[in-house]
Amino acid sequence: MQKAITKAVIPAAGLGTRLLPATKAQPKEMLVIIDKPVIQYVVEEAVQSGITDIVIIISAGKEVLRGHFDRDEALEHLLEKRGKTAELEAIRSLSNLANIQYIYQHEQKGLGDAILCAEAFIGNEPFAVLLGDTIIESEVPLTYELAKVYEQYGSSAVSLQRVPMEIAHRYGVFVGNHLGNKLYSATALIEKPPKGNIPSDLVFSGRYVLAPTIFHHLRNTPPGVNNEIQLTDAMRLQMQAEPLYGHVFDGRRHDVGNKLDFIKTNLLMGLNDPEIGLELREWMKRI
Ligand code: UTP
Repeated sequence: MQKAITKAVIPAAGLGTRLLPATKAQPKEMLVIIDKPVIQYVVEEAVQSGITDIVIIISAGKEVLRGHFDRDEALEHLLEKRGKTAELEAIRSLSNLANIQYIYQHEQKGLGDAILCAEAFIGNEPFAVLLGDTIIESEVPLTYELAKVYEQYGSSAVSLQRVPMEIAHRYGVFVGNHLGNKLYSATALIEKPPKGNIPSDLVFSGRYVLAPTIFHHLRNTPPGVNNEIQLTDAMRLQMQAEPLYGHVFDGRRHDVGNKLDFIKTNLLMGLNDPEIGLELREWMKRI
C-alpha cells in the first residue's frame, strides 16, 4: 500500500510575459478571478486533495503571494472591531489552509528547473505539482484523482485533456496506450511539437503526481524548447525506467496566463457564481 500523497509544489516564479504590462509589478498568479486570486484556487484544490505541505516557488518581486497566505493580525483585529465576521473568517482561514513554505527560483530557467528547486522540501516521496497559473474546475479535485492513480499503480501520473489538433502544438503532448476508462500509459511525450507533426490530441493540463526519481532526471535534462529546462523532457527520461500514466479528466482547465483565457475564465466561472451568475448571464444575453 502506497503512502498517501501529502506534499505539493506550486511553481509560480515565471515572468508572465504574455500578460505584460499587467504582470510587471503584479504576479499573474495574483490576478483575480471573480473574488479570489488564481493562486488561492490552486492552493484550495491541493488542500481538498489531501495535501498538507505546500511549497510555492516564487521569484524576486513576487513576495505578495506570501502576503496573501500569511496571517495578518492587524487586519483581523480591525475586521473584528467592525463586526465584519464573514470577511474575518475568510481572511483567517487563508492562513490555516496548509503548511505553506516559499522557495526562490533565482533565474527563470523553466518549469523543470522550478520543480528542481523543491527537492530538499520534498525529499524522497511522491508529490503533486499544480501549475500556479492554472485553475481546474472539476467535480472531484483533479490532484486527488491523480494521487489515487499513483497510489493504485505506484508510478507517476499526469492529467490530460483532449484539444483540437490545430492547437495541440501549444502544449506538452502525450502519446500512449489506452488502458481503459480514463487511463493511458505513456509511450512518448513531446513538449510543444512542430505544427505539422502532431502525434496526438492528448495534452498535459497542469497537474502531476510524480515519483521523487524525477529530481534525478531533472538534473540530467538539458535546456529544451524555448531554451528552458522542460518538465516534459525529464518525464521522458523517467519513463524509460518506470511507467508513466495519463489520466483524462472531466472538467475544465483555465490557463490564465494569456489574455483570451484570462477573460474566458472570468466569464465562465462568473456564470457559475451563485452571487453574480444570473445577472451576468442576463447581461451577456442583452449585449
Ligand atoms: P508558463 O511558461 O506558462 O509561465 O509556466 P511564464 O514563463 O511565467 O509565462 P510567459 O510565457 O512568460 O507568459 C507555467 C507555470 O510555471 C511557472 C509559472 O509561474 C507558471 O505558474 N514557472 C515557469 C516557474 O515557476 N518558473 C519558470 O522558470 C517558468
